[in-house]
Amino acid sequence: MNAEKPDLEDAYALQGAEDAKAVYAAWADSYDAGFVSERRYQLHEHVAAAFVAEGGIGPVLDLGAGTGILGMALAARNCGPLEAADISPEMLDQARTKGVYRRLVVTDANAHLPFPDNSFAGVVSSGTFTLGHLGPEILPDLLRVLRPGGLLTISVNSRHYDEAGFADALRVLFDRIAKLRSNTVPIYAATDSSDPHSADTAKIICLTKATP
Ligand SMILES: C[S@@+](CC[C@H](N)C(=O)[O-])C[C@H]1O[C@@H](n2cnc3c(N)ncnc32)[C@H](O)[C@@H]1O
Repeated sequence: MNAEKPDLEDAYALQGAEDAKAVYAAWADSYDAGFVSERRYQLHEHVAAAFVAEGGIGPVLDLGAGTGILGMALAARNCGPLEAADISPEMLDQARTKGVYRRLVVTDANAHLPFPDNSFAGVVSSGTFTLGHLGPEILPDLLRVLRPGGLLTISVNSRHYDEAGFADALRVLFDRIAKLRSNTVPIYAATDSSDPHSADTAKIICLTKATP
């Protein structure tokens, strides 16, 4: 890792919780002004727009909230209250300054999430279901903290979706899902032919939790 300025390659190469904490501790200060601005990263806008368009309401858990840009996008659409969860205290320190979350929780989403069953009417996540980060194994725990009839809206990097087996994982959860829809979007608005990731895409997955 470039300890001065981590980048996308460092993030995609993460190997476990300690690695994630180290990379994002080093990235937190420059994430918004560097990565988000320079690449014109836009997954948070896609997730917020889809969540609201599908009728999503609060309270909403933003998983892997990072510096809080998805929370900002939801707050701009009058959606809340919002809670943030992330493995990196440094990223959440940045999110806190945005002033849009009523609670920020440091937690490893690969462990059991520290929220009771049916806590949230919505669960959202942008940019965190990607290479080196979270996989489909945690979808059952996300459904656990979501209320029956609640809406989950997450972005999943398209390559990661295929390689990590999201389609199979969603099939297994069939009984717990009332409605499932998805579309594919570009992750970045900036185009740069010298950047191997500039045309990368993600799936926006929206699912409604079945009522028992
Ligand atoms: C690429 S950033 C995305 C942040 C924000 N949602 C956005 O769209 O800009 C990924 C975030 O996931 C967090 N993360 C990585 N692994 C995690 C884990 N196991 N549990 C919780 N958060 C994790 C990182 O700390 C980081 O803040």
